[in-house]
Amino acid sequence: MTHSAGTAYSVSGDHYLSYADGDPDRLFSFTSHFAYADARLWAVIARRLRFMRADGKEELRVLDAGCGPGTWLRRIITEAHRLGFRKIEAIGFDIAETQIDKARELTRDVRHLPGVSLSFEVRDLTQPLPEADRSFDLTLCLYCVLNHLPQEVLPAVIDELARVTRGAFVTTVRTIGSVPTAYVDSLDHARAFRQDNDLDRFEVELLDGQQFNFPSHLFAAREFETLMKKAFTIDSLRGLDLFHSRFSPDPRWNPEALPSDEALVRVLARLEDRFATHPAFIDRATHILLIGRPRCASVPLQAPAA
Ligand SMILES: C[S@@+](CC[C@H](N)C(=O)[O-])C[C@H]1O[C@@H](n2cnc3c(N)ncnc32)[C@H](O)[C@@H]1O
Repeated sequence: MTHSAGTAYSVSGDHYLSYADGDPDRLFSFTSHFAYADARLWAVIARRLRFMRADGKEELRVLDAGCGPGTWLRRIITEAHRLGFRKIEAIGFDIAETQIDKARELTRDVRHLPGVSLSFEVRDLTQPLPEADRSFDLTLCLYCVLNHLPQEVLPAVIDELARVTRGAFVTTVRTIGSVPTAYVDSLDHARAFRQDNDLDRFEVELLDGQQFNFPSHLFAAREFETLMKKAFTIDSLRGLDLFHSRFSPDPRWNPEALPSDEALVRVLARLEDRFATHPAFIDRATHILLIGRPRCASVPLQAPAA
């Protein structure tokens, strides 16, 4: 059995990509099971890019810490290029080697766009970042990366992420009230799983017999806010995907006669907006979405938060 998140995501390889992102050739179609959260998160990031461009910025530096297969950097580079950024420098890193291999392979299309410099590295986020102070306009740490870090190193990691950021920091983490995930693969492919909330560890056995046991800490919104606000001014803290996953039909259970129709999706989106910051709901969202800017940043960002 493997005992680190890095090994688990490395062994899982392509399984994580297809589970989390769906078809890698359809970057903006948001068709995976997590379509709602991805689309919403993308709207936040795309708005930031548009804002920077409208503000006259022509150069963009982006860091994706725990980038997995690099899908978010592919989206950002594609959009930033379309918006007319003249120079785009993007760095993604992850502790899982096969995720970095995948990211390098999948970004062949965007890395040769004019003005683009893109690099992926195998690195551990628990170590100090080699980048200079305030060197990124946008720093990302998306989907569970921070859930996998030992609690005792989190303050130092968050300080480092704040130190290298000059613009916005965007992160999402799994909540204490979220529905279960197998992290590295779809729950359909899990024979058994268990989240130990005393030890902050997750154990899963997949149908193919592979077993993983790695750190997993689920966050309460207040706890996450307290942790982050030491290093960041928080512009937005909200639940992400309170209703959509729970209401989407499960083909293993629901009859086809129960379609997920557009009208329902629109109502769910309104409910989502209404309850995303509600204290009784935020901890039951699938993720917490936090947008902040480093406390050390001298120029506050004026872009709308979320
Ligand atoms: C659920 S995946 C998210 C990947 C990517 N951010 C995304 O949104 O698709 C979590 C990622 O965190 C990475 N990770 C876990 N611990 C890490 C660490 N100490 N340093 C860097 N990456 C880490 C894993 O290898 C995995 O790729």
